[in-house]
Amino acid sequence: MDKLIIEGGVRLKGEVTVSGAKNAVLPILAATLLTDYACVIKGVPNLRDVNTMLRILRSLGKNAELDKGIVTVTSGRQKNFVADYRLVSTMRASFCVLGPLLAKLKKAKVSLPGGCVIGIRPVDLHLKGIKALGADLSIESGYVVATAQKLTGCRIYLGGVYGSSVLATDNVMMAAVLAKGKTIIESAACEPEVMDLAEFLIKMGAKIEGHGTPTIEIEGVRELHGANHTIIADRIEAGTLMVAGLITKGDITIKNVVYQHLGALIDKLEEAEAGITKTDTSVRVRVKKQIKPINITTLPYPGFPTDMQAQMMSLMTVTPGISVITEKIYPDRFMHVAELNRMGAHIQREGPHAIVEGVSHLSAAPVMASDLRASASLVLAGLVACGKTSVLRIYHLDRGYERLEDKLQALGARIRREKE
Ligand code: UD1
Repeated sequence: MDKLIIEGGVRLKGEVTVSGAKNAVLPILAATLLTDYACVIKGVPNLRDVNTMLRILRSLGKNAELDKGIVTVTSGRQKNFVADYRLVSTMRASFCVLGPLLAKLKKAKVSLPGGCVIGIRPVDLHLKGIKALGADLSIESGYVVATAQKLTGCRIYLGGVYGSSVLATDNVMMAAVLAKGKTIIESAACEPEVMDLAEFLIKMGAKIEGHGTPTIEIEGVRELHGANHTIIADRIEAGTLMVAGLITKGDITIKNVVYQHLGALIDKLEEAEAGITKTDTSVRVRVKKQIKPINITTLPYPGFPTDMQAQMMSLMTVTPGISVITEKIYPDRFMHVAELNRMGAHIQREGPHAIVEGVSHLSAAPVMASDLRASASLVLAGLVACGKTSVLRIYHLDRGYERLEDKLQALGARIRREKE
């Protein structure tokens, strides 16, 4: 296992380029199961999660390789409809092979993904949508077994206790593109990654309207063909790098940014009086004067993303004053709090709220990464802490950030990877 060693205190400077979006590429790779024709996906980041999805595709009978940011998926000789526990349990996004497998092969057996450190994370909305389309569902030995001679379009309300669901919307949309007749998904997730999936499906011949809004309309077609597609830029990586620039009081320009996808984050950073300048595809961040404390509530898109909550908390730990962070998507997503406090932060958790009292400085410590975005928050804290921080168990970070330490190093950070 690898760890990162960070010597804090360097103001980051320079330019950095964001990679393709993890949360867009994973369902898009799953969507290639909907066709026997070749698909070419470009701008694919080399991440552990992407490699897991490629292994799943291969286990289901596809040929799929990543080479220099391009994945070519073609059909192999034998198709398989079983997505194995050993692969699905390592990454929840793999559950979204259910919809395409069922639509294409009329049957699917996909392991239930189980919980993870950020919460229980049920899949009831995925199953509700797939069932509404006419599938027979049963749970057998930890697997969802779905069969349907024919899927039929219908009206499906996909809102849950915590709002819309990204992967449930993806899963149901992928099943509905080959269903007979019209499907209307209400309370659909509006995330840019859902839109990117819809754009890819449209390139494959699907008829979809309303993606990016809470009501998606899908007119089923008989078959889909292959498509070429370039993945959108990763808004969470962009946001993480923006915070890296601000927390170190640096001056950095982040390239390959879709500014519109970062609305809630930029609004909050402007409220904190950070200096932000945008151009067409890049954003410059710098600290003009002392950053102000802010209150944040995570919500489904276009609200403030839960995937940026931990990183913003790191920034607030060194921002004088009191900031309150409320987590409305995953009320238990606070694994980073204890580790940040070990570095000298003053954070008190009260149910779904974290009350952060800014301190004058953080001190380096060995800290343990528990999930993907928590790992990023610890790296950010390490960039500004006095002394040498080691962030252990960074395989979580490798799931979702492509060469983060190289990108930070290029901006001047003293950061290196070592074997634990
Ligand atoms: C996706 C993202 C993840 C992000 C999350 C929320 C991918 C690969 N992952 O995860 O990075 O943190 O969106 O923006 O895109 N829920 C249910 N029942 C369900 C499904 C979800 O109650 O069947 C709940 C979840 O527990 C959570 C909320 O709905 O409280 C939103 O989760 P969801 O949007 O489904 O997250 P994912 O799609 O798994």
